[in-house]
Amino acid sequence: MAIKFGRPIELRDEPPRPAAAATAPGLDLTIRMRRNRKSEWSRRMVREHVLTTDDLIWPLFITAGDNQRVPVPSMPGVFRLSVDQIVREAERAMKLTIPCIALFPYTDPSLRDETGSEALNRDNLVCRAIGAVKKEFPDIGVLCDAALDPYTSHGHDGLLRDGIILNDETVALLVEQSVIQAEAGCDIIAPSDMMDGRVGAIRAALDDRGHTDVQIMAYAAKYASAFYGPFRDAIGSSKTLSGDKRTYQMDPANVDESIREVGIDVAEGADMVMVKPGLPYLDVLRRVKDTFGMPTFAYQVSGEYAMIMAAAANGWIDGDRTMVESLTAFKRAGADGVLTYFAADMAEKLKAGG
Ligand code: PBG
Repeated sequence: MAIKFGRPIELRDEPPRPAAAATAPGLDLTIRMRRNRKSEWSRRMVREHVLTTDDLIWPLFITAGDNQRVPVPSMPGVFRLSVDQIVREAERAMKLTIPCIALFPYTDPSLRDETGSEALNRDNLVCRAIGAVKKEFPDIGVLCDAALDPYTSHGHDGLLRDGIILNDETVALLVEQSVIQAEAGCDIIAPSDMMDGRVGAIRAALDDRGHTDVQIMAYAAKYASAFYGPFRDAIGSSKTLSGDKRTYQMDPANVDESIREVGIDVAEGADMVMVKPGLPYLDVLRRVKDTFGMPTFAYQVSGEYAMIMAAAANGWIDGDRTMVESLTAFKRAGADGVLTYFAADMAEKLKAGG
C-alpha cells in the first residue's frame, strides 16, 4: 500500500506563491523566518554553533616577584602576574574546565639585550611559570610562544642586524628556545615569529631531543597588525620597538598568501594552526579551515579586547553580550578554539548557564 505524505513536492525554480495572505505586492508570507525565533527554546533548538569552555585558551602575562598583580592599563581586567599568582589562575582555569593557558613574560628591561639571550635562560620567568603550573596542575595544557620579542632590547621577534631581521640565525635561536621550554614542561610550542622554516626546524629538534609528544601550534597566518598594541604594553616592548614588523608578518591586504603560509607550516609538521588577529580576519579563518581541515585556532588579540572593554566602560556597548557574540563569531567562521583574554569571564558565564 502506498503511503501518502501530504502533497507531492513539485520542483520548480521559484517556491510556490499563495494567492492569499500577501499584504503587500510580492510579499510571500507562507515562509516566515521569524517562526523559529519566536521563543528561547526554539532559538536554542535551531542554533547552529555553540561555544563551550573547551573552545577557550587563556593568555596570561608573567612578571617577577611574589604576590604581584600589576594592572595593564590598556587592557582593563588583565594583569601581569607573579609566578605564584599564575598558578592560582591555572587553578581557576582548571576549575572552569578551560583546557589550556598561554604564558607570556614581561621581562625586566635590565635582562633584555640585542640577541634576546634571556630567552635561552632555563631559569627565566616562562620556564619557572611552566614548572610551577605543571607541578601543581599537570593536567592543564600550557602553551608558550617561540619568539624573541619579550627578550630583545629592540622589541623584534628575531635578530636585528643593520636594520634587517635575520631569518636563519633567528630560527637557530627559536629552536633552542623551544627545546628549553619543552624541557621545562611546556605542552604546546607556538612559533609566533613568522620566520621561514621555523616549524620544521623546531619539530626536528624536539624529536631529536626526545620531545616527540610536544605539540606545535603555528601562528601560521599572522598579520602585521595595529591590534597588537596593548599586548606590547603588557610585555613591555611597545616603547622600545624600533620600526614595525612588516618584513616578517603578513600584509593585512592579503588572503591567498595565508593559504601558502598555512600550507607550508602544515607540511613542516604543525599539529595546529592559528589565524591572528581574530575578528577582522574571519574571512581568512574560514578559508584556512575549509582548505586544510586542520585544528584551527583564532587569536582575539589585545586590541580587540581593549576596544570592547573601552566601549563597554563608556556605556556605548554591552560588554558582556559583545564578548559572547564575538566569541561565537569565531565558532561560526570555523575556529576549533580561541585564544582570548575573556576566557575566564566567558567560562564563568557558561558555567552559570550562559
Ligand atoms: C609576539 C606576539 C605578539 C602577540 C602574540 N605573540 C605581538 C607581536 O607580534 O608583536 C600579540 C597578542 C595580542 O595582541 O594579544 N610575537
